[in-house]
This record gives sequence, C-alpha cells and structure tokens, in this order.
Amino acid sequence: MRSKASFAAHPIHPMLVALPIGLWIGSFVFDLIGTAKSAPLLIAAGFSSLVAGCVGAALAAIPGVIDLFGAVPPKSSARQRGLIHGGLNVIALIVFVIVAARRGGTFAVPDGLSLALSFVGLCTIGVSGWLGGSLVFNNQIGVDRRYANSTTLKIREIADFAHPACHQSELSDGQLMLIMIGDERVAIGRAAAGIFAFADLCTHRGGPLCDGALVGTTVQCPWHGSQFDVRTGRVIAGPAQEPIKAYGVELRNGAVYLVHPAVEDLRRAA
Ligand code: FES
Repeated sequence: MRSKASFAAHPIHPMLVALPIGLWIGSFVFDLIGTAKSAPLLIAAGFSSLVAGCVGAALAAIPGVIDLFGAVPPKSSARQRGLIHGGLNVIALIVFVIVAARRGGTFAVPDGLSLALSFVGLCTIGVSGWLGGSLVFNNQIGVDRRYANSTTLKIREIADFAHPACHQSELSDGQLMLIMIGDERVAIGRAAAGIFAFADLCTHRGGPLCDGALVGTTVQCPWHGSQFDVRTGRVIAGPAQEPIKAYGVELRNGAVYLVHPAVEDLRRAA
C-alpha cells in the first residue's frame, strides 16, 4: 500500500528512522569508549548523539503515525504489528530521554545505569526495527505497486451507497480502485467480463486486495497469495479459508454504483 507521507514518491518514515538508529548506536559506542578511556570529547559526542537521536526519533514518528493510520489496512495483522512497532519506538525514546536527563550535561560521564539503559534502548529499537522491516518487506507498506495497464491505485471516499463510486471509464482492464464508505473499504476492479466489487479485506490476515493483482475474474492477495473469485467472493486458492464479501455493481449512464451485499441478498430472496 502506497505511503501517505512521502516525498517525490519515496516514503519519509524509512528515510528518517536512520537518524535515531545511527545516532543512538553512535552515542552508545562513544560513551563506552569515552568512559573506558576517560576521553571528554568522546563523552560529549556521546551526549550530543543521544540528544540528536531523540530529536530524530520524534521527527520520524510523525510520518510513521500518518502511515500507520493512513496506509496500513485496518483490522489486519499489519496494523497490530505497526502498533507494536510504534509502541516499542515510544518506549525506546522514553528510555533515551531518561538517560539524557540522568546525565544532565554534555561532559557528564555516564554511570553504569545510564549505559545499561542505553543498551536496553538499543535492544528495543532493534526489535522494533525488525518489525518495521516486516511491515515493509512482508506487508509491503509503503510499496507503490504497478501492474500492466493499471496506473497508480486510485482511492476515493464516498458518503454512502447512493453516490456513484466512479465512472466506468476510470478503470482499464485489470485495474483496481479502492472506495471508502465510512469504515467500509471496497475494491472495484474491471475485467473483460465486467466490473466487480468486493471487500478490500483478505479473509486470511486482512491484506489489502485493492493492492493485489486482478487477472481475469481472480484477485490475488499481495501478502500471502490467496486467490478469490471476484464475482462471488469464493476462495480459489489459500491460505485463506473464508470467502470475501462480494458487492453488487450497477451501471447507470456509465456511473458505477455499489450495492451492499445485504441488499443484494434481499433482492435475490425477493
Ligand atoms: S492476508 Fe494472507 S493471503 Fe491475504
């Protein structure tokens, strides 16, 4: 899913996290050597890196929070992972702020507890970084996917089902669009057989199907490859076991209207 906080199409959060990681590691190394060798300049470098790392962490948190709530699909395993990642980052920041406060000055020699706390902070940031890597490399948060004939994913919000979701001319064959109606996320895709709409939420671990590949009437989840028939929601291939919700689609003068599955069921029953 494309980042919501990017610069020239590059997500900002991964750029900024290099600051606290590098500075806090540097601070710990400077402190260790400076303390062992009684070198005031190294101790000063350690303190300065420590404070600069805290500032960098605060800056990196801003695009991180924007992406956590704007790009990571809600109700997904990635959202839980992102919350833990963010929580560990906050803990690490608090730990390093405590270390800075305990030292209280540029040339103050860190005591054993400060060094131990710095080490705990580094371990915390290491675990958090591992989770951050999973968010990018496994869940593809911040990845801007492109498929044949499908330009950048279009995302649109509509007030309710009475409003058109899009115009049919906005979708080329194989292209997907994400429509948000309140809390509901619906993917619309165009295939040779027509236009189809289905829940954006993969029933395996909540992967964003609008970010997957639509080939014919089959959509493939980008996270673990489950495949669904977009006409019915039926599972074609796992690991997903449960079908996805399929929405009805009505075309009125080229405008695409969504029909909620519950309404579709009532119509079929009538
Ligand atoms: S989230 Fe695992 S296959 Fe979709």
